Amino acid sequence: MKYQTAIVIGASSGIGREIVRILAAKGVKVAAVARRKALLDELVTEFPSLVQAYEHDVVQTHDVPGLFLEITKNLGGLDLFVYNSGVMPEVAATEYSFDKDLHMVNVNILGAIAWCNQAAERFQNTKHGYLVGIGSVAGDRGRMLQPVYNASKSFLHTYLEALRNRLSRHGVVVSTIKPGPVDTELAAHMSMKKMSAHHAAEICVSKFTKNGEHYLAFFHRFAFYIIKRIPSPIFRKLKI
Ligand SMILES: NC(=O)c1ccc[n+]([C@@H]2O[C@H](COP(=O)([O-])OP(=O)(O)OC[C@H]3O[C@@H](n4cnc5c(N)ncnc54)[C@H](OP(=O)(O)O)[C@@H]3O)[C@@H](O)[C@H]2O)c1
Repeated sequence: MKYQTAIVIGASSGIGREIVRILAAKGVKVAAVARRKALLDELVTEFPSLVQAYEHDVVQTHDVPGLFLEITKNLGGLDLFVYNSGVMPEVAATEYSFDKDLHMVNVNILGAIAWCNQAAERFQNTKHGYLVGIGSVAGDRGRMLQPVYNASKSFLHTYLEALRNRLSRHGVVVSTIKPGPVDTELAAHMSMKKMSAHHAAEICVSKFTKNGEHYLAFFHRFAFYIIKRIPSPIFRKLKI
């Protein structure tokens, strides 16, 4: 096993929760971080010797350095870091809500920077580690339905690419994972075919040790290769 200790931010539900369960089932010691402590405590009950629960709101970025230090001390090291927290409130096609947009920026962007910077610096110094961010196919193109969610995931992809270019030379792997629709609370309002959270998490875990950007399905890799190349004047006429 390439990693023995891990932090998962956004571990209380959906893909993050399943990632914690898969890692713990492999014997990895995991710090599970999110706001809903009761849900994290269920994971501790399931894996008492392996999962530790930490209640934290990623919007509180000033708390991150202290909490990161506390967690890495309690884990006795850190091999794997996963930033999975994300929000995508329902936004109407004619709506411009700064409150919703600010919340997405705080969770999907600023929380990611606050946590990933800590992990990046530690891994750079120890010359070892796997840094993972859960992006989205939604970040591949600016679509009419979710302007800020799309942009926040696009930010994450570019930020992680830059960290990869910094950290690869120090022996650190940076993996960006871009799921398509997954059956979770975040996507509850989307009526389309979705992958189960457990299956998505299994594929995510299989990509943790691979430098680069990864889709969860071959179909998405193929479809988004095409979608990214549709000229803007045509793309803006489509309802995708
Ligand atoms: N579902 C999809 O179709 C889909 C597709 C592509 C990408 N993704 C990405 O996958 C990731 C996981 O989402 P999911 O689909 O599994 O949805 P989910 O079940 O809603 O999980 C979101 C996770 O983020 C955490 N989170 C949200 N706000 C937070 C905050 N302020 N502080 C700390 N943690 C916070 C939640 O924990 P608490 O609420 O307990 O804090 C929860 O653990 C997200 O980054 C999402 O953008 C999802």
